[in-house]
Parts: sequence; C-alpha cells; structure tokens
Amino acid sequence: MTDKPSQQSSIHPEAATSGMAKGLTNYGDRGFSLFLRKAFIKGAGFTDKALERPVIGITNTGSSYNPCHGNMPQLMEAVKRGILMAGGLPMDFPTISLHESFSQPTSMYLRNLMSMDTEEMLRAQPMDAVVLIGGCDKTVPAQLMGAASVGLPAVQLVTGSMLTGSHRSERVGACTDCRRYWGKFRAEEIDSEEISDVNNQLVASVGTCSVAGTASTMACIAEALGIAIPGSASPPAVTADRIRIAERTGEVAVHMARAGLTIDQILTPAAFENAIRVLLAMGGSTNAIVHLAAIAGRMGYELDLKALDVFSRNTPVLLDLKPSGDHYMEDFHAAGGMPTLLRELKPLLNLEALTVTGKTLGEELEAAGPGFKQTIVKTLKEPLYPQGGIAVLHGNLAPGGAIIKQSAANPALMEHEGRAVVFENAEDLAARIDAPDLDVQANDILVLKNIGPKAAAMPEAGYLPIPKKLAAQGVKDMVRISDGRMSGTAFGTIVLHVTPEAAIGGPLAWVQNGDRIKLSVSQRSIEWMVDSAELDRRQSAQPVQVPSAERGYAHLFKKTVLQADRGADFDFLTATESKGAIPRS
Ligand code: FES
Repeated sequence: MTDKPSQQSSIHPEAATSGMAKGLTNYGDRGFSLFLRKAFIKGAGFTDKALERPVIGITNTGSSYNPCHGNMPQLMEAVKRGILMAGGLPMDFPTISLHESFSQPTSMYLRNLMSMDTEEMLRAQPMDAVVLIGGCDKTVPAQLMGAASVGLPAVQLVTGSMLTGSHRSERVGACTDCRRYWGKFRAEEIDSEEISDVNNQLVASVGTCSVAGTASTMACIAEALGIAIPGSASPPAVTADRIRIAERTGEVAVHMARAGLTIDQILTPAAFENAIRVLLAMGGSTNAIVHLAAIAGRMGYELDLKALDVFSRNTPVLLDLKPSGDHYMEDFHAAGGMPTLLRELKPLLNLEALTVTGKTLGEELEAAGPGFKQTIVKTLKEPLYPQGGIAVLHGNLAPGGAIIKQSAANPALMEHEGRAVVFENAEDLAARIDAPDLDVQANDILVLKNIGPKAAAMPEAGYLPIPKKLAAQGVKDMVRISDGRMSGTAFGTIVLHVTPEAAIGGPLAWVQNGDRIKLSVSQRSIEWMVDSAELDRRQSAQPVQVPSAERGYAHLFKKTVLQADRGADFDFLTATESKGAIPRS
C-alpha cells in the first residue's frame, strides 16, 4: 500500500517550516535533501500520511545508570499514545541522562553539557514541538535551558517521585533520611548491620527523591512556570496518575505545535516570579536558585538576588515536606499536589501567566476546583515557617551574595559569631574532618573553600559533616560556609553559593583558621572580621591561581563557567539580548 506524497513537503521544501521538511540537512539542493530524508525514514516503515502530521520530538533520557528515570519506557509509551490521539507523529530520540550518584565528579559538571546536547538535538532534528522527559536533579534544568535557547513549543514531563520505604516500622525515603541515618552511623548510634538494612529501604522504587530535594523542587517549579501541565509535578513515578499525565502531556504538545505556542510565551517574568514564589513556599532546594538563574539567563533575564530576598520575606513556607517539614511527595500528591499549593498562594501569584495548555494559571486553578480538606499544605495565615525557605545573604565575605535555607536551619544558630575552622578544598576536608586532633569546638564555624563553579563545578559538598568527635558528643548542627552547593534533601545551618568563589579571588580565599565570622540571618549578613590591611597582606602573600584545564570539556568548562548568581551557565550560552531582571521589584 502506498500513500500520496504531501504537496507541501515534497514539492516546495524551501517553503516548509514545519514537519519533516523543517531544518533540512544541507546538501546544496533542498528538494534532494527532503527526498533523501523521507527515503531514510520510510526505511523504518513510515508512510507519507504519517509524515504529514505535526512532528513531536520526545527526549528519551532512560539509562541503566539512572533509576530516577526507571519508568521511562512506560512514560514514552503513554506520551506517544497522547500524541497519536491528538493527530501528531511522535519521534523519540536519546540525549544525555544524568543521575546524581552516577556522575563523577558531580552532576553539576555535566548539566551544561546536557543542556547543549538537548539544545542542539532540538535544533538539528525536525520537530514542531518537544516533550522533555526528565526528573533527576540536573536533567529538568538542563532540558529547560536547552529548550529555552531553541524557542520551540516545549512541554516538560517529569518522571515522578519514588515511593517511600519502611525501616523497622519507620517510614524512610531518599534522601533526607539517607543523611539522617548516615549521621547516626557516624555518631555510632546505630551499627553496621542497621545501616546496611536501611540501605535497602531508602529508595523503595524507581523515581526521583521523595522529599523536597532538587528533583521535586524542579518538578514543582516547572508546573509553576506553566511549562508542565497542571497537576503533573506530584504523581509518583509508579502510579497510574503518572501515566495519565504522560498521555495528556503528549496531547498538549500537539496542540502547542498547532497553535505555535512557543516557549518564550510561557517563560515570561510573570512565570519566573510564580516559580520563585513556589520555591520559597515549598521550602525547596537551594539548587533551584542556581538552575532558575541559568534558565532565566537563557531567556535574557538576570536573577536579582536582592529582589528574590524581598519575595522571601513575604512568602511563607506552606508545604510540610522534608527536609523543612515531615512529609514526602506522595503525601503532597494525596493532598492534591500543586493545585492545592497554588490555590493557597493565589494572592501572591501572577494568575495571568500563560501555561502550556493555552490557558492562564488562573484559569487552570479555577478549573481545578475548590480543593478539599488536607493537612500537608498549610495556609498563609498559619504557615509552617513565617518567611520563604531561602534567605539571601550579603557582606564582606560574599559581596556577590550567598544563600541559606533558613527553614531547614537550626534557629539557635541563625544569629551566630564563631571562630573559623578552615578546609582548603574537598580533599583537605576528607583528610582532616574526623582527625582526633582537629582543633574544633561546637560553636566554631566550619569553612570549606574551593568547591565553587570554576574550582570544582559546585559539588554538593557544602553539607560539611559534623566532625566525628563532636558528633559523638551529640552535636547535630554547626554553621558551615562554602562556595559550593548542598543537596536539596540536606538540612542544617549551612551558608552556600558564596560569590565570588575562592578560586577566582573571592574573599573566602583568604579566610584562615581562627578568624571570626558573624552570621545574621535576620540582617541577611555574613561578615568576616578582618581589617583591610590584614586582607592586603594575605592577598599579596598568597595570590590566587585561577583554575584551568588543558583539553576537552573540562577546558571549556573552566574557561567559560559563570558564577552561581548567573546560574553557573557557560558565558557563551546565555541570551545575547538582555531583557531585564527578575523578579521585577
Ligand atoms: Fe535522582 Fe535524587 S538522585 S532525584
């Protein structure tokens, strides 16, 4: 059986801006290029009739190394079903996949590479819209960064959270409980048999971490941005709800392609402000600040940390999820998921922001109905925490800013002055933190240098362990400061993303053991008590050597990576045209 070739695609390829005739390979003869493309795709059994449909790309980020994406085959099948139901042609293709625990030295090192892979594959291959399937921490930011640079209609689908497990009758989930149990093991409160038992229970199924870590935060942010369909952030990976969301996402992608609903109509300042509100109200991962800055940078917007802090002062934490609260993503889903949170946040949101469905956020919330009684999302009147989860700090130790997850910090340490105990880099920390002769006391401040973007691609090493000898005495938290990041699942009084980083000559480079440092979260300040004469002396005695690499991706990374406040993106990937700052003040 044969089909009649499409008039548009076979005869006038030069006029075609959609479907299979889009973005032809350059052979110097456009008619021949399309002829050849169709010959090859027909080798896979496609008919001309199928090839006339809107082409919807689907990023396949399944990998044996990525159990957070372990439901990829089921999601792909459902997305394809949705695309076919709506009259589109699904075309899946692979891109890099990143899992936190299988990305050496750190997944952040590879986020920009994944964004470049996504961007270039979206440009290179013919598609009228794309479904971006991601989930594990760096994948959603990488996909949104890449798609933002391309400008196609794009819709995000997250893989969904894992289920919780049970250890000796206690509910556990990755990875706040991973850290809590490891802390107990280090403090010798539990033995090696128990730590081995709990290891079997922390990740009870495929899917992303079950608390308000970076993956869950980015899932909620994607929905708040309007780039994922309403209600799509919270269904766990292994549920029928997740599969239905995937099917619906496929349908939406076809409608977006037909309507020409491009990503720039979705990722507007209003949408970014909604995302910031949600980040703050969910006590979300500090990493999301870096990722939001990077995504915004691709659209030409600069993240204004001071304006973000103003948002933080009037956006209370409402979501009772670990590590700021007590619950897990599956509980959030049972409580109605994002529509429940957004409904409560309504007075603080830009309801006119457009979503991928073609409706505004306000219209979608109206359609979601009045909600029901639940206890996971608190009210604006009786929040979980009176301010936003993240506070922005400035001071002579961090002229470009630093952040602290105040909702997961120890209130007793939020106004604290102490003596610095300094580690020069991650290796120095590993070598000395548990040394019995380490000169450290519970009210000291632990400082880790050289884990910033240029030095080390910002590993999640900012959650410095409590020195073993103090942990054994029952010390659970100390003020810790670094130019790196920490996992969104971590907790404690931890100052992160100190900018500029030590490796490029930020003040952190010259902090020494015994210096006094003062943290005041209420004043939003981080001050280092050293006079300018002493600083000059230290700077001339120990000039910084900005790190570089000889070859390959490492060379590109070290040469072009920006600081945390610019999203640690590569300088040549940000938008060329500046559209102003977000959030708008
Ligand atoms: Fe993938 Fe936590 S390791 S989401």
